Amino acid sequence: MSGLPVEVRRPHVRLTRLAFENFRNYASLQLRLDGRHVCLYGANGAGKTNLIEAVSMLSPGRGLRGAEFTDLIRCDPEGRLAHNWALSADVRDGDVDRRLSLALELDEQGKSKRTARLDGAPTTQNDLAELMRIIWLTPSMDRVFVGPASDRRKFLDRQVMAHFPSHGAFSAAYEKAMRQRNALLEQGRSDPAWLDAIELGMASAGAAMAIHRVDAVRMMQAAILARPEGAFPKALIDLNGEQETQAANGMPLTDIEQEIVARLRENRAKDQAVGRTLEGVHRTDLRVVHAPKGLPADQCSTGEQKALLMGLILANAQALFERDFAPSPLLLLDEAAAHLDSDRRAALYDELAALGGQAWLTGTDRSLFDAFGDRAQRFEVSDGVVREG
Ligand SMILES: Nc1ncnc2c1ncn2[C@@H]1O[C@H](COP(=O)(O)OP(=O)(O)OP(=O)(O)O)[C@@H](O)[C@H]1O
Ligand SMILES: [Mg+2]
Repeated sequence: MSGLPVEVRRPHVRLTRLAFENFRNYASLQLRLDGRHVCLYGANGAGKTNLIEAVSMLSPGRGLRGAEFTDLIRCDPEGRLAHNWALSADVRDGDVDRRLSLALELDEQGKSKRTARLDGAPTTQNDLAELMRIIWLTPSMDRVFVGPASDRRKFLDRQVMAHFPSHGAFSAAYEKAMRQRNALLEQGRSDPAWLDAIELGMASAGAAMAIHRVDAVRMMQAAILARPEGAFPKALIDLNGEQETQAANGMPLTDIEQEIVARLRENRAKDQAVGRTLEGVHRTDLRVVHAPKGLPADQCSTGEQKALLMGLILANAQALFERDFAPSPLLLLDEAAAHLDSDRRAALYDELAALGGQAWLTGTDRSLFDAFGDRAQRFEVSDGVVREG
């Protein structure tokens, strides 16, 4: 035994090359990345958000704008739509280089699907989610605390998915089963065996989702509390949902499943009357309190809410970086620097530098990133053309 500490943490994941074709306003793009953080600057409408949207498409889901895959196809200035888009990235995962290629595929019915290949071989959404843990902050999330619970749930589930890649598949399975259940109830078909089977599917996905959410929120909260006091206020977070409360109280997965099954069966008539499923993990909310003020986030000022959100994202990044055996996340921060005062901006860059990994930031002016010094690589974006410098 050498007595040296055993390093179990994996080196950080980063992109070393990003290329795409016919994606949004880009005819084609090829970026070489040296492993530092990445700052993209350029005028409004230049293609900065589109570029980080392309990065966000490397993990399952519909990316940071929640876009339809077909909307990503480039429409040229003459209004001609390209045939397809394709993305490819070289990912350094520790000492291993992986090549990831994604493309849109349209079937005969015109339905779109994203296909992924890893090192040339077809790969599943789940493998993709295992490799690419991506979290982001965009201006449209600014109102997440005052908007509908569905926005907060979406935000929460993205954070959870970065911890537990299967969370995405469970969410999709739950939603699909719920749609089937609602349709059956609406048709008034009394086929109890069929309903039982669908509700069992909802229960097994729902129970897993509740447990994932509780575990991820615990890790996030621990990371928030471990943060030094600084530019971004600490938040107290918890989940407002029956199944999550059960999970937090240590109820085993199979018992939570049974609870969901019982509740769905009990609610059939009520749900049929209103045409939807009234209760379940699809109604869970994330509660956030500004810790120093003891105020619910929705009662904080706009600036305070933005700062809270930034603190949450940074804390979750920290929590993800600290997990052993899991790949580290990529962090996409769209226009996050512009609204910060210069001290907070410098604090953000220091924090990102300390985290390591690869963060992608956008802003209209190069000078916004001055305080990053040589800790970031800079690119100018202009009308779908990108130049280093
Ligand atoms: N499918 C598409 N084909 C061609 N152009 C598109 C497509 N989708 C979006 N665009 C265009 O891409 C341009 C760049 O958009 P993007 O959101 O990346 O700009 P940005 O650099 O982030 O600007 P801002 O600073 O205003 O946020 C916009 O003019 C938009 O209309
Ligand atoms: Mg933008």
